[in-house]
Amino acid sequence: MTIVDLLDKATLRFLLFGGKGGVGKTSSAAASALWAAEHGRETIVISTDPAHSLGDCFAQDISGGEVIPIKGVKNLYGMEINPQKAYEEYKETAQQSDTGEIGSMGDMMGLEDLADMNAPGSDEALAFSKVLEFIHKCEYDLVVFDTAPTGHTLRLLGLPEMLDSFFGKLIKFRMRFSSMFSRLKSIFGRGDPKGEDRSLENLENLKVAINEARVELTDPTRTSFVIVMIPEAMAVSETERLLQTLYEYQIPSSHIIVNMVFPDIPNCQFCRARKTMQTQYLSQIHEIYDDFMITEIPLFEEEIRGIPALTRLSSLLATGVFPEKR
Ligand SMILES: Nc1ncnc2c1ncn2[C@@H]1O[C@H](COP(=O)(O)OP(=O)(O)O)[C@@H](O)[C@H]1O
Ligand SMILES: [Mg+2]
Repeated sequence: MTIVDLLDKATLRFLLFGGKGGVGKTSSAAASALWAAEHGRETIVISTDPAHSLGDCFAQDISGGEVIPIKGVKNLYGMEINPQKAYEEYKETAQQSDTGEIGSMGDMMGLEDLADMNAPGSDEALAFSKVLEFIHKCEYDLVVFDTAPTGHTLRLLGLPEMLDSFFGKLIKFRMRFSSMFSRLKSIFGRGDPKGEDRSLENLENLKVAINEARVELTDPTRTSFVIVMIPEAMAVSETERLLQTLYEYQIPSSHIIVNMVFPDIPNCQFCRARKTMQTQYLSQIHEIYDDFMITEIPLFEEEIRGIPALTRLSSLLATGVFPEKR
């Protein structure tokens, strides 16, 4: 079983890639998306990592926060989420929000205020709201997410519980109180009579949107989270943390990519030393994660950049470089 078994599943809609920085998440996400697109599925790969490298990986400028067709590949689109652009969009929708419709995800999250204050985490919240939007719209056969290291963004999925907690109730109480206050102000002629505070309603809508995303993301027929790691000590501890987050939110995960495995090169003492070091961790990884499908990918001579290199990687991911007997 390889990544292809996942990609071949007709029901699969969301494929997420995560792991420590620099281990090959973006390369693996792009190569998997390429494989799916070349096999006839309309696929988009979205980078939610603020340190974007998806454009670099495709050797094409896709910055700017818009969906861009990938040159030379049918059915493949890419997007790097740009918090600034998302913020501008929310500002626009907020200005036209007298329509009585449910506001955008950004509205619901009160992102305008957050971004205005340059609050810590506002970029992450903006990226998360975009992710919710893509899950909600589901306009592609397959949506591949190239996520930020160690799934911090996923923690925002816990918002519904937080809102139901004591702390959340306190926030809602404050909001209810402030909306009562703004209504009083409008009755007494101060404040905007139309400026009814809809924050509480927005918060409830946000809860619905997150719960809807969670239904998708916890369904093993529709979603899978692929863990990418390298055979080194730090990667193992980082993977443990990531798995804990996935477990907490019940996000299905069955595949691990162990990337940058040193190839066998005769007469190279340096290579042999590295290989010996890696072999020890590889055995450990296979032992700890024996219920996962593990695909080992060798270290390429060159960086993985552009469609030809990605095609090489995607065929390795598809056929699976299985662990040598050791
Ligand atoms: N198997 C590999 N062999 C050689 N270079 C690789 C391999 N996998 C990734 N790289 C290179 O390593 C760098 C980091 O990879 P990237 O996919 O951007 O990691 P991440 O998204 O996890 O930060 C990139 O320059 C990429 O081209
Ligand atoms: Mg990356």
